[in-house]
Amino acid sequence: MANRRLAPAAEQPASFAFSSENADWAKGQIEKYPEGRQASAVIPLLWKAQEQNGGWLPQKAIEAVAAELGMPHIRVLEVATFYTMFALEPVGRFWIQLCGTVPCDSCGARELKDYLHERLGAPGHVSADGNFSWLEVECLGACCNAPMAQINQDYYEDLTPDLLGTLMDDLAAGRPVKVGSQVGRTSSEPKGGADTLTDATLFDGSRVGAWRKRFEEHAADDTTSEGKSEAASSEQRAATDPKPAKPDAGRAAASSASDGPAQRSAGGEEPVKAGDKADAADATDSKAQPGHPTADAGVTVARAEAAGAEAGTQSDLPRDEPPPQPLASGASEDLGPDDATPPPTAAKPRKTAPNPGAPKTEGN
Ligand code: FES
Repeated sequence: MANRRLAPAAEQPASFAFSSENADWAKGQIEKYPEGRQASAVIPLLWKAQEQNGGWLPQKAIEAVAAELGMPHIRVLEVATFYTMFALEPVGRFWIQLCGTVPCDSCGARELKDYLHERLGAPGHVSADGNFSWLEVECLGACCNAPMAQINQDYYEDLTPDLLGTLMDDLAAGRPVKVGSQVGRTSSEPKGGADTLTDATLFDGSRVGAWRKRFEEHAADDTTSEGKSEAASSEQRAATDPKPAKPDAGRAAASSASDGPAQRSAGGEEPVKAGDKADAADATDSKAQPGHPTADAGVTVARAEAAGAEAGTQSDLPRDEPPPQPLASGASEDLGPDDATPPPTAAKPRKTAPNPGAPKTEGN
Protein backbone atom coordinates (compact mmCIF):
# COMPACT_ATOMS: atom_id res chain seq x y z
CA MET A 1 0.00 0.00 0.00
CA ALA A 2 1.09 3.49 -0.78
CA ASN A 3 2.96 5.68 1.66
CA ARG A 4 0.58 8.58 2.28
CA ARG A 5 2.95 11.24 3.58
CA LEU A 6 3.48 14.70 2.22
CA ALA A 7 6.49 15.22 -0.02
CA PRO A 8 9.72 16.33 1.68
CA ALA A 9 10.01 20.03 2.40
CA ALA A 10 12.67 20.37 -0.27
CA GLU A 11 10.13 19.44 -2.92
CA GLN A 12 7.31 21.63 -1.59
CA PRO A 13 6.61 24.91 -3.42
CA ALA A 14 6.66 28.11 -1.37
CA SER A 15 3.07 29.04 -2.25
CA PHE A 16 0.02 28.02 -4.19
CA ALA A 17 -2.93 29.97 -5.59
CA PHE A 18 -5.57 29.01 -8.11
CA SER A 19 -5.22 30.62 -11.51
CA SER A 20 -8.02 33.07 -12.25
CA GLU A 21 -9.65 30.55 -14.56
CA ASN A 22 -9.49 27.80 -11.97
CA ALA A 23 -10.64 30.19 -9.24
CA ASP A 24 -13.80 30.86 -11.26
CA TRP A 25 -14.28 27.15 -11.78
CA ALA A 26 -13.84 26.53 -8.04
CA LYS A 27 -16.40 29.24 -7.27
CA GLY A 28 -18.91 27.46 -9.53
CA GLN A 29 -18.32 24.18 -7.70
CA ILE A 30 -18.83 25.77 -4.30
CA GLU A 31 -22.08 27.38 -5.42
CA LYS A 32 -23.54 23.93 -6.10
CA TYR A 33 -23.92 23.38 -2.38
CA PRO A 34 -26.20 25.14 0.13
CA GLU A 35 -24.94 27.79 2.51
CA GLY A 36 -22.89 26.19 5.26
CA ARG A 37 -22.14 23.07 3.16
CA GLN A 38 -19.26 24.45 1.09
CA ALA A 39 -16.97 21.73 2.49
CA SER A 40 -18.74 19.33 0.15
CA ALA A 41 -16.67 20.82 -2.67
CA VAL A 42 -13.38 19.69 -1.12
CA ILE A 43 -12.65 16.83 -3.53
CA PRO A 44 -13.28 18.78 -6.77
CA LEU A 45 -11.11 21.63 -5.52
CA LEU A 46 -8.27 19.34 -4.47
CA TRP A 47 -8.51 17.62 -7.85
CA LYS A 48 -8.27 20.94 -9.70
CA ALA A 49 -5.34 22.05 -7.51
CA GLN A 50 -3.50 18.81 -8.30
CA GLU A 51 -4.13 19.26 -11.99
CA GLN A 52 -2.83 22.85 -11.90
CA ASN A 53 0.29 21.76 -10.00
CA GLY A 54 1.47 19.21 -12.53
CA GLY A 55 -0.29 16.14 -11.16
CA TRP A 56 0.48 16.24 -7.44
CA LEU A 57 -0.76 18.06 -4.33
CA PRO A 58 1.72 20.21 -2.39
CA GLN A 59 1.01 21.22 1.19
CA LYS A 60 0.36 24.82 0.14
CA ALA A 61 -2.37 23.69 -2.25
CA ILE A 62 -4.05 21.75 0.54
CA GLU A 63 -3.96 24.85 2.75
CA ALA A 64 -5.31 27.03 -0.06
CA VAL A 65 -8.28 24.73 -0.54
CA ALA A 66 -8.92 24.71 3.21
CA ALA A 67 -8.92 28.52 3.27
CA GLU A 68 -11.24 28.67 0.27
CA LEU A 69 -13.76 26.38 1.95
CA GLY A 70 -13.36 27.71 5.51
CA MET A 71 -12.17 24.31 6.75
CA PRO A 72 -9.38 23.46 9.24
CA HIS A 73 -6.20 22.42 7.42
CA ILE A 74 -6.21 19.03 9.09
CA ARG A 75 -9.68 18.21 7.69
CA VAL A 76 -8.50 18.78 4.12
CA LEU A 77 -5.24 16.94 4.77
CA GLU A 78 -7.28 13.93 5.97
CA VAL A 79 -9.11 13.84 2.67
CA ALA A 80 -5.97 14.31 0.57
CA THR A 81 -4.09 11.56 2.38
CA PHE A 82 -7.03 9.11 2.32
CA TYR A 83 -7.63 8.93 -1.45
CA THR A 84 -4.80 7.60 -3.60
CA MET A 85 -6.16 9.64 -6.51
CA PHE A 86 -4.33 12.51 -4.85
CA ALA A 87 -0.57 12.24 -5.32
CA LEU A 88 1.32 13.77 -2.42
CA GLU A 89 4.68 13.70 -4.14
CA PRO A 90 5.82 14.80 -7.59
CA VAL A 91 4.86 12.34 -10.33
CA GLY A 92 6.27 11.56 -13.76
CA ARG A 93 4.72 12.61 -17.06
CA PHE A 94 2.84 9.31 -16.92
CA TRP A 95 1.65 8.36 -13.48
CA ILE A 96 0.94 4.63 -13.24
CA GLN A 97 -1.49 3.48 -10.57
CA LEU A 98 -1.27 -0.30 -10.51
CA CYS A 99 -4.17 -2.20 -8.90
CA GLY A 100 -2.96 -4.77 -6.38
CA THR A 101 -6.31 -5.91 -4.93
CA VAL A 102 -7.26 -9.59 -4.91
CA PRO A 103 -8.88 -10.06 -8.37
CA CYS A 104 -5.99 -8.27 -10.07
CA ASP A 105 -3.48 -10.00 -7.80
CA SER A 106 -4.96 -13.39 -8.75
CA CYS A 107 -4.67 -12.54 -12.44
CA GLY A 108 -1.06 -11.45 -12.48
CA ALA A 109 -0.72 -8.05 -10.79
CA ARG A 110 2.32 -9.33 -8.86
CA GLU A 111 4.21 -9.92 -12.09
CA LEU A 112 3.33 -6.38 -13.18
CA LYS A 113 4.55 -5.04 -9.85
CA ASP A 114 7.82 -6.90 -10.21
CA TYR A 115 8.20 -5.49 -13.71
CA LEU A 116 7.66 -1.91 -12.52
CA HIS A 117 10.09 -2.41 -9.65
CA GLU A 118 12.66 -3.64 -12.11
CA ARG A 119 12.08 -0.87 -14.67
CA LEU A 120 11.33 2.16 -12.48
CA GLY A 121 12.55 1.29 -9.01
CA ALA A 122 10.55 1.85 -5.83
CA PRO A 123 7.05 3.30 -6.03
CA GLY A 124 6.64 7.03 -5.43
CA HIS A 125 9.77 8.04 -7.30
CA VAL A 126 9.98 9.64 -10.70
CA SER A 127 12.08 7.81 -13.28
CA ALA A 128 15.36 9.39 -14.33
CA ASP A 129 13.93 10.54 -17.65
CA GLY A 130 10.96 12.12 -15.86
CA ASN A 131 8.48 10.04 -17.81
CA PHE A 132 7.14 7.63 -15.22
CA SER A 133 6.29 7.12 -11.58
CA TRP A 134 4.13 4.42 -10.16
CA LEU A 135 2.09 3.47 -7.14
CA GLU A 136 0.20 0.39 -6.03
CA VAL A 137 -3.43 1.23 -5.27
CA GLU A 138 -6.60 -0.55 -4.23
CA CYS A 139 -9.36 -1.74 -6.57
CA LEU A 140 -10.10 0.69 -9.38
CA GLY A 141 -13.32 -1.04 -10.37
CA ALA A 142 -12.19 -2.81 -13.55
CA CYS A 143 -11.74 -6.23 -11.93
CA CYS A 144 -13.56 -7.96 -14.79
CA ASN A 145 -10.58 -7.23 -17.02
CA ALA A 146 -7.89 -7.82 -14.42
CA PRO A 147 -5.06 -7.11 -14.07
CA MET A 148 -5.17 -3.43 -14.85
CA ALA A 149 -3.52 -0.11 -14.27
CA GLN A 150 -4.58 3.51 -14.56
CA ILE A 151 -2.09 5.74 -16.36
CA ASN A 152 -2.98 9.40 -15.94
CA GLN A 153 -6.73 9.49 -16.76
CA ASP A 154 -7.07 6.20 -18.69
CA TYR A 155 -7.50 2.53 -17.81
CA TYR A 156 -5.36 -0.20 -19.42
CA GLU A 157 -6.65 -3.74 -18.82
CA ASP A 158 -5.74 -7.41 -19.40
CA LEU A 159 -2.12 -6.50 -18.88
CA THR A 160 0.92 -8.72 -18.86
CA PRO A 161 4.48 -7.54 -18.19
CA ASP A 162 5.17 -7.61 -21.92
CA LEU A 163 2.03 -5.64 -22.77
CA LEU A 164 2.73 -3.12 -20.03
CA GLY A 165 6.30 -2.69 -21.24
CA THR A 166 5.15 -2.05 -24.80
CA LEU A 167 2.52 0.35 -23.58
CA MET A 168 5.07 2.34 -21.57
CA ASP A 169 7.44 2.45 -24.54
CA ASP A 170 4.68 3.78 -26.79
CA LEU A 171 3.60 6.39 -24.27
CA ALA A 172 7.15 7.61 -23.75
CA ALA A 173 7.69 7.79 -27.52
CA GLY A 174 4.44 9.63 -28.08
CA ARG A 175 2.96 6.85 -30.18
CA PRO A 176 -0.79 6.27 -30.10
CA VAL A 177 -1.96 3.66 -27.62
CA LYS A 178 -5.20 1.80 -27.17
CA VAL A 179 -7.03 2.32 -23.88
CA GLY A 180 -9.10 -0.46 -22.27
CA SER A 181 -8.39 -4.12 -22.89
CA GLN A 182 -4.96 -4.84 -24.36
CA VAL A 183 -6.02 -8.26 -25.69
CA GLY A 184 -8.86 -7.10 -27.90
CA ARG A 185 -11.80 -7.61 -25.60
CA THR A 186 -14.77 -5.37 -26.14
CA SER A 187 -15.74 -3.93 -22.77
CA SER A 188 -15.74 -6.91 -20.42
CA GLU A 189 -16.94 -9.66 -22.75
CA PRO A 190 -15.46 -13.15 -22.26
CA LYS A 191 -11.97 -13.78 -23.56
CA GLY A 192 -12.35 -15.28 -27.02
CA GLY A 193 -15.47 -13.27 -27.77
CA ALA A 194 -19.08 -13.24 -26.71
CA ASP A 195 -20.59 -16.71 -26.15
CA THR A 196 -24.10 -15.77 -25.02
CA LEU A 197 -26.90 -13.89 -26.77
CA THR A 198 -25.22 -14.60 -30.09
CA ASP A 199 -28.39 -15.59 -31.99
CA ALA A 200 -28.98 -12.85 -34.56
CA THR A 201 -32.74 -13.45 -34.41
CA LEU A 202 -32.73 -11.99 -30.92
CA PHE A 203 -31.98 -8.62 -32.41
CA ASP A 204 -33.44 -8.54 -35.92
CA GLY A 205 -37.10 -8.65 -34.86
CA SER A 206 -37.82 -12.03 -36.45
CA ARG A 207 -38.67 -13.57 -33.10
CA VAL A 208 -41.64 -11.28 -32.59
CA GLY A 209 -44.81 -13.37 -32.91
CA ALA A 210 -42.91 -16.67 -33.01
CA TRP A 211 -44.81 -17.91 -29.97
CA ARG A 212 -48.13 -17.24 -31.72
CA LYS A 213 -47.03 -19.36 -34.68
CA ARG A 214 -46.23 -22.24 -32.36
CA PHE A 215 -49.68 -22.07 -30.75
CA GLU A 216 -51.33 -22.01 -34.16
CA GLU A 217 -49.39 -25.07 -35.25
CA HIS A 218 -50.42 -26.93 -32.09
CA ALA A 219 -54.05 -25.95 -32.62
CA ALA A 220 -53.89 -27.26 -36.19
CA ASP A 221 -52.49 -30.57 -34.96
CA ASP A 222 -55.37 -30.97 -32.52
CA THR A 223 -57.92 -30.88 -35.34
CA THR A 224 -56.39 -33.81 -37.23
CA SER A 225 -58.10 -37.21 -37.15
CA GLU A 226 -55.48 -38.40 -34.74
CA GLY A 227 -56.52 -35.68 -32.36
CA LYS A 228 -60.17 -36.59 -32.71
CA SER A 229 -59.61 -40.30 -32.04
CA GLU A 230 -57.55 -39.36 -29.00
CA ALA A 231 -60.44 -37.25 -27.69
CA ALA A 232 -62.88 -40.14 -28.27
CA SER A 233 -60.67 -42.63 -26.48
CA SER A 234 -60.39 -40.18 -23.57
CA GLU A 235 -64.17 -40.23 -23.20
CA GLN A 236 -64.19 -44.03 -23.31
CA ARG A 237 -61.49 -44.17 -20.64
CA ALA A 238 -63.51 -41.84 -18.43
CA ALA A 239 -66.46 -44.27 -18.60
CA THR A 240 -64.55 -47.52 -18.09
CA ASP A 241 -61.73 -46.37 -15.85
CA PRO A 242 -62.99 -43.39 -13.92
CA LYS A 243 -60.87 -41.32 -11.64
CA PRO A 244 -61.73 -41.38 -7.93
CA ALA A 245 -64.86 -39.40 -7.21
CA LYS A 246 -63.05 -37.23 -4.68
CA PRO A 247 -59.47 -36.22 -4.32
CA ASP A 248 -57.95 -38.80 -2.01
CA ALA A 249 -55.39 -36.42 -0.48
CA GLY A 250 -52.77 -39.11 -0.57
CA ARG A 251 -54.95 -41.82 1.02
CA ALA A 252 -56.16 -44.87 -0.80
CA ALA A 253 -59.62 -44.18 -2.24
CA ALA A 254 -62.30 -46.26 -0.53
CA SER A 255 -64.20 -46.70 -3.76
CA SER A 256 -64.29 -45.17 -7.19
CA ALA A 257 -67.33 -43.83 -8.92
CA SER A 258 -67.75 -47.12 -10.78
CA ASP A 259 -71.52 -47.47 -10.34
CA GLY A 260 -72.78 -44.23 -11.78
CA PRO A 261 -75.32 -43.82 -14.60
CA ALA A 262 -72.50 -43.34 -17.15
CA GLN A 263 -70.82 -46.60 -16.19
CA ARG A 264 -74.11 -48.51 -16.16
CA SER A 265 -74.95 -47.09 -19.56
CA ALA A 266 -71.50 -48.04 -20.92
CA GLY A 267 -72.05 -51.59 -19.57
CA GLY A 268 -75.38 -51.93 -21.38
CA GLU A 269 -77.52 -51.56 -18.23
CA GLU A 270 -80.36 -49.18 -17.48
CA PRO A 271 -78.80 -45.90 -16.29
CA VAL A 272 -81.29 -45.65 -13.37
CA LYS A 273 -81.79 -48.72 -11.20
CA ALA A 274 -85.33 -49.98 -10.68
CA GLY A 275 -84.93 -49.74 -6.92
CA ASP A 276 -83.83 -46.12 -7.20
CA LYS A 277 -86.91 -45.31 -9.25
CA ALA A 278 -89.16 -46.92 -6.66
CA ASP A 279 -87.37 -45.10 -3.85
CA ALA A 280 -87.74 -41.83 -5.64
CA ALA A 281 -91.45 -42.42 -6.11
CA ASP A 282 -92.08 -43.64 -2.54
CA ALA A 283 -93.85 -40.82 -0.68
CA THR A 284 -93.59 -42.68 2.64
CA ASP A 285 -89.82 -42.27 2.60
CA SER A 286 -90.09 -38.49 2.55
CA LYS A 287 -89.40 -36.38 5.60
CA ALA A 288 -92.33 -34.22 4.63
CA GLN A 289 -95.52 -34.38 6.69
CA PRO A 290 -98.46 -36.24 5.13
CA GLY A 291 -101.01 -33.66 4.10
CA HIS A 292 -98.52 -30.88 4.39
CA PRO A 293 -98.21 -28.75 1.23
CA THR A 294 -94.47 -29.27 1.00
CA ALA A 295 -94.91 -33.03 1.41
CA ASP A 296 -97.36 -33.21 -1.48
CA ALA A 297 -95.10 -31.12 -3.64
CA GLY A 298 -92.12 -33.35 -2.79
CA VAL A 299 -94.01 -36.45 -3.89
CA THR A 300 -95.00 -34.75 -7.11
CA VAL A 301 -91.41 -33.79 -7.86
CA ALA A 302 -90.07 -37.27 -7.04
CA ARG A 303 -92.61 -38.95 -9.27
CA ALA A 304 -92.02 -36.55 -12.15
CA GLU A 305 -88.26 -36.94 -11.91
CA ALA A 306 -88.50 -40.73 -11.81
CA ALA A 307 -90.80 -40.79 -14.82
CA GLY A 308 -88.51 -38.42 -16.68
CA ALA A 309 -85.43 -40.46 -15.88
CA GLU A 310 -87.14 -43.59 -17.20
CA ALA A 311 -88.22 -41.85 -20.38
CA GLY A 312 -84.88 -40.14 -20.82
CA THR A 313 -86.46 -36.67 -20.61
CA GLN A 314 -86.54 -33.87 -18.12
CA SER A 315 -89.64 -33.23 -16.03
CA ASP A 316 -92.13 -30.55 -17.06
CA LEU A 317 -92.02 -28.83 -13.70
CA PRO A 318 -91.65 -25.10 -14.05
CA ARG A 319 -87.97 -24.16 -13.90
CA ASP A 320 -88.46 -20.51 -13.09
CA GLU A 321 -89.85 -21.21 -9.60
CA PRO A 322 -87.90 -22.39 -6.59
CA PRO A 323 -88.70 -26.06 -5.93
CA PRO A 324 -90.72 -26.86 -2.79
CA GLN A 325 -88.45 -27.73 0.11
CA PRO A 326 -88.95 -30.62 2.56
CA LEU A 327 -88.87 -29.82 6.23
CA ALA A 328 -85.50 -29.39 7.77
CA SER A 329 -84.25 -32.69 9.18
CA GLY A 330 -83.97 -31.17 12.67
CA ALA A 331 -87.63 -29.98 12.71
CA SER A 332 -89.98 -31.46 15.29
CA GLU A 333 -92.45 -34.03 13.90
CA ASP A 334 -95.17 -32.67 16.25
CA LEU A 335 -95.31 -29.34 14.57
CA GLY A 336 -98.67 -28.58 13.08
CA PRO A 337 -99.21 -26.80 9.78
CA ASP A 338 -99.19 -23.43 11.55
CA ASP A 339 -95.90 -24.23 13.31
CA ALA A 340 -94.13 -25.89 10.40
CA THR A 341 -91.74 -23.01 9.92
CA PRO A 342 -90.27 -22.10 13.28
CA PRO A 343 -89.51 -18.42 13.77
CA PRO A 344 -85.87 -17.48 13.61
CA THR A 345 -84.32 -17.38 17.03
CA ALA A 346 -81.64 -15.01 18.19
CA ALA A 347 -78.22 -16.62 18.48
CA LYS A 348 -77.39 -17.53 22.06
CA PRO A 349 -74.47 -15.55 23.43
CA ARG A 350 -71.39 -17.71 23.82
CA LYS A 351 -70.26 -18.45 27.32
CA THR A 352 -66.75 -17.34 27.86
CA ALA A 353 -64.44 -18.08 30.73
CA PRO A 354 -64.29 -15.25 33.24
CA ASN A 355 -61.22 -13.08 32.89
CA PRO A 356 -59.94 -12.31 36.36
CA GLY A 357 -57.75 -9.53 34.99
CA ALA A 358 -60.57 -7.69 33.20
CA PRO A 359 -61.80 -4.43 34.77
CA LYS A 360 -65.23 -4.62 36.38
CA THR A 361 -68.10 -2.80 34.73
CA GLU A 362 -71.52 -1.93 36.10
CA GLY A 363 -73.02 -5.16 34.85
CA ASN A 364 -70.36 -7.32 36.49
S1 FES B 1 -9.21 -5.67 -8.20
FE1 FES B 1 -8.12 -4.61 -9.72
S2 FES B 1 -9.60 -3.34 -10.57
FE2 FES B 1 -10.68 -4.35 -9.02
